[in-house]
Amino acid sequence: MIEYRNLRIALLGAGSVGAQVASLLLEHGEELANRSGAGLELVGVAVRDLDAPRSADIPRDLLTTDAESLILGADIVIELMGGLEPARTYILQALNSGADVITGNKALLATHGPELFDAAEQVGAQLYYEAAVAGAIPIIRPLRDSLAGDRIKRILGIVNGTTNFILDRMDTAGESLEAALATATELGYAEKSDPSADIEGFDAAQKTAILASLAFHTTVPLDSVYREGITSVTIEQVDAARKAGYVVKLLAICERMTDAVTGEEGVSARVYPALVPRSHPLAAVHGAKNAVFVEAEAAGDLMFYGAGAGGKETASAVLGDVVSAARRHVIGGPGVAESTHANLPILPISSVTTRYQITLRVIDEPGVLAAVATLFSGHGVSVETVEQSVAAPGRGDAAATATLVIGTHEASESDLSATVAALETSQVVSSVTSVLRVEGS
Ligand code: NDP
Ligand code: HSE
Repeated sequence: MIEYRNLRIALLGAGSVGAQVASLLLEHGEELANRSGAGLELVGVAVRDLDAPRSADIPRDLLTTDAESLILGADIVIELMGGLEPARTYILQALNSGADVITGNKALLATHGPELFDAAEQVGAQLYYEAAVAGAIPIIRPLRDSLAGDRIKRILGIVNGTTNFILDRMDTAGESLEAALATATELGYAEKSDPSADIEGFDAAQKTAILASLAFHTTVPLDSVYREGITSVTIEQVDAARKAGYVVKLLAICERMTDAVTGEEGVSARVYPALVPRSHPLAAVHGAKNAVFVEAEAAGDLMFYGAGAGGKETASAVLGDVVSAARRHVIGGPGVAESTHANLPILPISSVTTRYQITLRVIDEPGVLAAVATLFSGHGVSVETVEQSVAAPGRGDAAATATLVIGTHEASESDLSATVAALETSQVVSSVTSVLRVEGS
């Protein structure tokens, strides 16, 4: 057996992910040492409650409630507690003591990323976070390393498994949003007490901030990510989308684009439910799976697909970071700082251009179509397709009504919003029943 230098590993947290990391580190220690060129000694596991049940066996003498003492003297600290505090303080303590840090904490990175990356750079340590976006899927390292020589144009991601599960159930099983959410909760995808992090798009927005920062070498603060969740998506919209050859997906979109208003180049980071053509690879992402579709200038289109959550699955990404950190310790030298050299402006949602599909109920009378078309052209929005279906008047109805489904060419959000406002007050429109953006075509 080869004699390696020993690296001391401190693990903070032994929940869904942490317990699996501890178990795999203990079980595969020798193999991981051979891959890293260093012995990986798990010196302790910090938890809140020493007696809490664990999803994997962890020797009792490794458990401690004293995280601060555990961090002192560690070469590598793995933070899997979640939340902002005390995770932030512990990570800063670890970096300042010269340890490399591995985390899966997207909330923390999206909120305090620049502070943590600066702290790492100051002391020449490295902060690894492959598990923070899309669980087991390798996407951080491909963006940071493999694609570092290319220019990313756009990323479209399904990065929240819970909402993808819900929208998929609505599409494939015809369930309402409420029924699909209940199934997701029963299966343990959505939090029972508060599913809002998933269904309101907060989790996806955190991941979007991380991906956009990395892809465009720009600091993208969490509060600059435009966010809409899935709570207003109706089964009628999902059914209509299917009939029109689309599927509704909650997308994390990171895009390098030209400001529709000022002409300035910048970055757009946004999360919303959108219509995706059924022919697009993201349309085939079912259940709670995640996928990240990257459009790069030279590489073309790439798709990364797999499990976006799960204890063991996410532990795989964490252990990949452990091996990278251990190899860096063996080789020596300072860690590589995060690159934010481009520092592009972050564009507001009003400056984004995309295509839209708008569904209206109108009175079926001569001149109505022309009046609706005039409202679109009057606000600079070009109509690409129009489909009309007519319902015969019911008893008591004054006239037959028609449903118009209007697809637009690319238009700016501000022009589209002005058009929708005008439609809502128009004499010829009974109601605007749906406005959805179209992405991925
Ligand atoms: P859990 O809630 O299952 O586990 C959290 C662990 O941290 C528990 O063991 C808890 O101790 C411990 N802990 C919490 N606060 C403290 C504290 N103040 N001091 C010491 N220990 C503490 O979280 P997960 O394993 O699900 O997630 C961990 C991280 O990984 C999060 O940042 C999450 O966003 C991220 N992640 C999770 C994924 C998943 O599928 N679960 C996927 C991708 C990323 P105790 O057990 O005693 O209560
Ligand atoms: N709640 C997240 C999801 C888990 O549904 O994808 C991992 O971030």
